[in-house]
Parts: sequence; C-alpha cells; structure tokens
Amino acid sequence: MIQDMIIILDLGSTENTVLAREIRALGVYSEIYPHDIASGELERLPNVKGIILNGGPNHIIDGEPIHAGRHIGESGYPVMAIACQPNDGRCHAEYPDWETAAPMLKDFIFNVCKASANWNMKNFIADQAELIRRKVGDQKVLLALSGGVDSSVVAALLIKAIGNQLVCVHVNSGLMRKNESEDVVNVFGKQLDANLVHVDATERYLTKLVNVADPEEKRKIIGTEFIRIFEEEARRLGGADAIGFLAQGTIYPDVIESGTKTAKKIKTHHNVGLPADMQFALVEPIRQLFKDEVRACGLELGLSDEMVYRQPFPGPGLGVRCLGAITLGRLEAVRESDAILREEFKHSGLDKKVWQYFTVVPEFTSVGVRDNARSMGYTVIIRAVNTVDAMTATIEELEWPVLKRITDRILAEVKSVNRVCYDLSPKPVATIEWE
Ligand code: XMP
Repeated sequence: MIQDMIIILDLGSTENTVLAREIRALGVYSEIYPHDIASGELERLPNVKGIILNGGPNHIIDGEPIHAGRHIGESGYPVMAIACQPNDGRCHAEYPDWETAAPMLKDFIFNVCKASANWNMKNFIADQAELIRRKVGDQKVLLALSGGVDSSVVAALLIKAIGNQLVCVHVNSGLMRKNESEDVVNVFGKQLDANLVHVDATERYLTKLVNVADPEEKRKIIGTEFIRIFEEEARRLGGADAIGFLAQGTIYPDVIESGTKTAKKIKTHHNVGLPADMQFALVEPIRQLFKDEVRACGLELGLSDEMVYRQPFPGPGLGVRCLGAITLGRLEAVRESDAILREEFKHSGLDKKVWQYFTVVPEFTSVGVRDNARSMGYTVIIRAVNTVDAMTATIEELEWPVLKRITDRILAEVKSVNRVCYDLSPKPVATIEWE
C-alpha cells in the first residue's frame, strides 16, 4: 500500500464527509467508519496513521448515546476527538470553520500521526489495483456495466488490475436512453476490447413492471432484476466454478443517501439496496470517492473527457422518469423527448454547463388539438439542475429561446405529446428525480 490513511469514526456528526474531504484536500487519504467498528476490522485496514472521533448531533441511537469501543483507545493509533458538547441534555456540536480548525488538524495529521501527503489519483489507482488483486486472486469478476461514469471508471480500473479476469455484463433493461446500449457495446466491446456480454432484458423488465406504480417498488424490482440477471450470467459464464465476485460503481453519495446508521433514508439507490440473498461478494473500488474524484480517477485511467464528464443517470434509468406504472407509449415519449433535450443542450453548449438535465412524463393526459382535431396527449416536463454533490440542487435558468426550441421540437417530433412544462423546484424540497 502506498497511501497513508486517517480514519474518521462517525459518532453522530453531520460533517463526516466534509471532514474527509478536508483531510483529502491536505493530500492524506481518509475514510469514514461507524463508531462501533470491530477491532478485527480496524486491524485489517491498511496504513492507518491515526483516528478522529467525530461527534455531533446524531449521537443518540435508540435512546442511548453512542461511544467508541475501548479497543480504539487501546489500538496504539493516535486519537483525536472532535466530540460534541453536551448542554441541557442535548448535543451542541458547533463545527469550527475550517480556517480556524486547519492548523489543529494539520498538526494532528502530520506531526502526531506522521502521515505523508501521498493521496493522489495515481497512488489511489495503484492501491486499489493491488487491493482488488489481493481480494479476487485468479478468480473472475463480473461488472455491471451501465455505461455511466461510475461503472465505466470501475471497468477501466478493473481492466488495469485484473485484465481479462473481468467480465463486463451490460443489461439493456429497456429503460436506457436512446442509442445508449449500442454506444456501450461500441466503446467497451470494440474500442476498449473489454470482455463484454450484452443481455437484452427489455421484455423481462417491462413484464415485471406492468401495473407497478409505487416508486420504491419499481426501484426494488429493477434493482433485484439486475442482480438476478447477473447471477444467471455468472452461472452461465462460470460453469462449475460460478463467478463469485460482483463489481459495482457504487460511490459515496449512493452510500449515504441510502441511509447509514446516523443519516436518514431518502430513497433506495438501486446499487445499494441489494437483495439479502444475493450470492456475490462485492468489489466496490470507488465506494469512498466523491463524484469529482471519480472523474479525476477516470481521466488518470485514460478515459475520454466525453465519457468522464457525462451527466449522471440513475440506476433505474428511464423507469423513474416514466412516472407511475410504466407503459410503452409513455416510455417512448420519455426516451424521444430526452434525446431531443440532450441534442439541443449539446448544440447550445449547455451540456458542459448544466449538471443534470432530463425529461419526465407523468401518468395523466390532457386535451389538445392536433391536425385540427381534439386529441389527448402526454405532458413532458423538462428538468435542468445544478449541484455539487447531488445532496442539494438549484434550477438552471434556461434562456427562453432554448426552451422554446426544445418545446417546438418535442411537440413536432413526439406525436403523443401535446404539452411541455419546465420544473422550477429546487432540492430540497423536491428531489432531483421525480421518483
Ligand atoms: P435524487 O432524486 O435522490 O437524486 O435527488 C440524486 C442523484 O442521484 C441520482 N439517482 C440515482 N443514481 N441509482 C443511481 O445510481 C439510483 O437508484 C438513483 N436514483 C437517483 C439522480 O439522477 C441524481 O443525480
């Protein structure tokens, strides 16, 4: 291992990720663990130089205040506590601003822990490649390759670490954007020469989703079906020695938004809410990275700018943008309107400026006039948001002519649509996706 590491133990702080980023910004790798990390797990972590106990307002679980175990103090590692101040029976953890706190933090990290500032992408990649090789030995690994930034970066990292032991499985769920599956096959199968299996599961998904309107249920069905398909592929590809490892492009915001011990659950992100009886061991080399770090990792691995700066796309795909119970007609309306939106954003350079932009189609129809006759049509809602970490988001103030051009094209080219609206809701109170 090349990189030294400072461990943050989560004792109920809401600022764990801020602290981790501050430490990483000092050039030292940092990871966050629950307050009750077992001593065995702590011992297995490589290159730990020190531990920070990070207290805060969420330090009560099930009515009891949480504490770090005795083994932390006895571990021999230097320990620093930012713990909260009990006051009136409540915890007041006023975080110092980073300018004030930085000298103290630096002193602990560099003088007390004697950590080296050797956290950079080159070393991260070398470390992860070594960890992956140690973990999987000469066994094969399956990768769920959606073609998004995260799974593409994992693919590149695994190709570097274990070459053709990696088998990429791309599932076309029928919920992909226009031409997306074809692009994945071209880039990874042909250009990057990856070991790629393409499964067309369109019918299978759409059958499972018939009449399912509840967003959480849709997400669970879509996520579970992914795993089932991978298990089947593993059996098919591995023969007698079924493939035991599944690699995923899980990143840090997925982990915290699905609810840690102290954070509240908002929605199930499909790559975290895995079925309990899943048969794979997971390989998640970018699980601790923030999105900007994932992109830097991709560039260091030689992926193209276009691939690395691609806008995020949710695991359940257009399934959560064709609102309520999915129908073929509305799915087509979402796919076609999304393609038009993306084309127009590219033309006007907005694709480089706006963080995420897409369309959604609700379940209702409304009255319109087409070819001089009354007709019922769908409504397309455009959403374009900016954010740093997807935890909060603001609305892009699109220019009127751009909105008008997109509207005209959708109404002319997607015949089942008769209205186009623009969503002005920030996160919070809305979330970025509608479901
Ligand atoms: P929300 O809607 O929760 O979205 O504000 C935050 C970001 O996460 C993306 N998203 C997902 N990504 N699996 C993913 O990999 C999912 O199930 C999922 N749901 C939402 C969303 O597109 C936005 O960028």
